[in-house]
Parts: sequence; C-alpha cells; structure tokens
Amino acid sequence: MPGEYGRPNVSPLPPGLTADVQLGRSISIRSPTGSVNTPPQRVLLTGGTGFLGAYLLHEFLTRTDAKIFCLVRARGHVEAFDRIVSALQRYRLWDPQHATRIMPFAGDVSEPGFGLLAREYRALCRADVIVHNAARVNHVEPYSRLRSANVQGTRQVLELAAGGAIPVHFVSTLSVAASCARPPAGPVLESARPGPAEVHGNGYLLSKWAGEELIAQAGERGLPVAVHRPDRVCGGVVTGAVSTDDAFWTLVRAAVMLGAVAAESAEFSLVPADYVAAAIVHLATHGGTGRTYHLTNHSTAPLTLVWERLRANGFPLTTAPLADLAARLTGAATTDQGLARAAAIPVQGSDDAVCFDDSNTVQALAGTSIRCAPMSAELIDRHIEYLVDVGFLPSPVAAAGASA
Ligand SMILES: NC(=O)c1ccc[n+]([C@@H]2O[C@H](COP(=O)([O-])OP(=O)(O)OC[C@H]3O[C@@H](n4cnc5c(N)ncnc54)[C@H](OP(=O)(O)O)[C@@H]3O)[C@@H](O)[C@H]2O)c1
Repeated sequence: MPGEYGRPNVSPLPPGLTADVQLGRSISIRSPTGSVNTPPQRVLLTGGTGFLGAYLLHEFLTRTDAKIFCLVRARGHVEAFDRIVSALQRYRLWDPQHATRIMPFAGDVSEPGFGLLAREYRALCRADVIVHNAARVNHVEPYSRLRSANVQGTRQVLELAAGGAIPVHFVSTLSVAASCARPPAGPVLESARPGPAEVHGNGYLLSKWAGEELIAQAGERGLPVAVHRPDRVCGGVVTGAVSTDDAFWTLVRAAVMLGAVAAESAEFSLVPADYVAAAIVHLATHGGTGRTYHLTNHSTAPLTLVWERLRANGFPLTTAPLADLAARLTGAATTDQGLARAAAIPVQGSDDAVCFDDSNTVQALAGTSIRCAPMSAELIDRHIEYLVDVGFLPSPVAAAGASA
C-alpha cells in the first residue's frame, strides 16, 4: 500500500520549475507587522468542496463565530453554495444553522484575481486569516498538469494576502518532509526544507513542495505564514466519512472486489480528518504563524487489521500471492473503473522506518482538547460502515454472494 508519502521516482526536473518557485517582485508585503486578529471575524478558505476542506469548514463553523468566505469553482454563487453544502452533507458535517455564515465566492485559485469581479475580490481582501487548502490532489498526473492549481494557485493566494498582510495557513503534505528522511537517522523535523532534487519524480509532491517554497519566501518578506503537513488523512473518528478518491481506500475496495489480499503485511498510519481540521483551525485562529506543523498519528496498525475488520464485517477474503493478485486486478480492471484506478496507483517503497517530529504541533495544541485518535479496530469499522453506506463498498451480503 502506498503511503500519502512515498519515495519519488527519478525523472528530470520540469522546465520552468525554477521560475515557478520565485515569488517575484510584484508580491510585496504592505504591512510586515500584520498579525492575526483573534478571534477572526472573516476567514478565507479555499478547497471547501473537497474532503479535508469540508472538515476545515465544519471546524471553523463550530469553533468560531466568523463568517467563512469559501472560494469555490462554480458558475455562480448559488452553485458555489450548493457545492459546499453537498460536500458537508457527503462527509456528514452539514448543520443548516451554519448556512448564513458560509459566504460562497465562485472562483478559481489558479486564475488572476481568482477570476472574480473586482468587488468580490475586494471583499476577500478583508479576510482576517486565510487557510489555503485547495489543490489538485493526484499522485499520477505530471507536474505540468498540477502546476496551475497547486503552484499558480498558491501565488494568487499570496498576492491577495500580501496587500493586507493577511496571515496565510498553507495546507501542504507530510510527503514533502518525508523526502528529507534518511533512515535510520532520527525523526524528520518540522523545519525540514528539502530541495527540488529530493522531491522530483512525483508531480504532486513537486507541486506541493513548490507551494511551500512560495510560502516560505513570502514569510521571509514578512508575511505571517504557517505550513501544515498532514499525513494520509482518513475520515472523522465518529463517522469514518472519508474521500472515496483516496488511494488507500481504493486499494481496500480492490481487495474486497477481488475477495483476496496478500499475506504480506505492513504497518500503516492514518490521521483522522477531524483532528487535522481542528488543529489547523486552532492554529489559524490563535496566531500560529512562523512555523511548520506536522500532523501525524503517533500510532500505527498492521494492514492485517483492515483485513480482519473486513472479515469481521462479513466480507469474505482469502489470501493470495502478490503477483497473482496483481494479475487478477489487471484483468478485473477492464470492467470496473474503480479497479482500474486501483491498478494505476503507483507501488511505492515502504516508509515504515521514517518517523516525524511534531513538536511544534504538540506545543501549540497543549492545553486544548485536540488530540489525534489512535489507530484502532473501531476507527477501521467506522470507515467500512461509511463506505458501505455510500455504496463505495458493496454490502457484505452481496460480496459474500459474489464469492460463493
Ligand atoms: N487527503 C489527504 O490524505 C491529504 C494528505 C496530506 C495533504 N493533503 C492536502 O490537503 C488538501 C486537501 O486535499 P483533499 O484530500 O481534501 O483533496 P480534494 O478532496 O481533492 O479537495 C481539493 C479541493 O481543492 C479544490 N480545487 C482544486 N483546484 C482548484 C482550483 N483551481 N480552484 C479552486 N479550487 C480548487 C477542489 O475543488 P473542486 O471541488 O472544484 O474540484 C477541492 O475543493 C490539499 O492541499 C492536499 O494536498 C491531503
């Protein structure tokens, strides 16, 4: 199973990368002394129609009284609002009482001025804090496809922030830090800042790294910035409501559909979305700039725990050699789009030996009730129930019937 982080393949650096990671003189910080207005009255959140974005929006709505400006791709305000609500509903987070505090803006992070009308853009400039979470999340696409959303998008966000010295909290990924790992050396520090040679070969990773570079340069010019690096995110602990686009659960589904798993096991770790979102929202509303935060789960579980919980939930699973499973997956992928996606997931080396320091996060959350739930059978069960409920996994009865 690939982790959210994995060793990148070796390939040449994309042309234009050096220019992409130069902030440019056009971005100058108007007031380098800007600090977060605590508690914020207006928050700009990008990526609110996505998986983690829905959890972030929910945390802002429940932990603060702020109005949340949500920049969302849509043909207009109404569609933008509908897309936000359907994301909250999908992840079981919708509360109609919060509707009036959600302010939809139909725009695209990669476009100049987000493609908004001037008055809409001016409204966003009044944000007290920005959480830039939007990204094209795809581990297969090349950098050239991801650059617009992930690198240009971050530049556009910084341009808006610079005008009013608005603090920016950038959602990156632990994969960026993982590229600095040198096992068996000690844990990867939150201050780790790899160079392009360490992240090249994986377009997504490179694009997130490039985003971090732009953020770091803005920070060096005086903009209050923070970088948040979550590990692979799973659903909330109560609902298990997770993205069905995620590679981990796509592979779990493949196991269910084939009715077989490999005998080999590895340790894995997932970090619940409610913890990640609560931590980021706490940090964004308590002036947590000037640092990078690792958002990880200190506990791990063997993959066999997932197979055990699937069996306990009624899914028949046999074991088979890896080569046999790969051949069966390739065959079945011709008639099942989900299995085709599973077959396309790159096989990456195990990062079992890699561990990550999260001292900044631990220190910043001390005295709060925000804690990461450990890996457990219950956590896996909630995910299985949710994924059956939304039709991503077949019902155990149907799966048992198919394998009989
Ligand atoms: N999921 C994980 O395990 C994980 C782990 C580490 C880090 N992260 C980071 O967390 C963030 C959210 O990831 P996710 O898993 O929630 O992904 P996701 O479900 O695919 O959500 C991505 C969000 O970004 C938006 N977006 C993409 N391109 C955009 C553009 N050009 N303009 C405006 N919005 C755009 C999407 O909008 P549409 O709905 O219009 O497509 C969507 O709302 C990303 O920055 C990712 O790198 C995720």
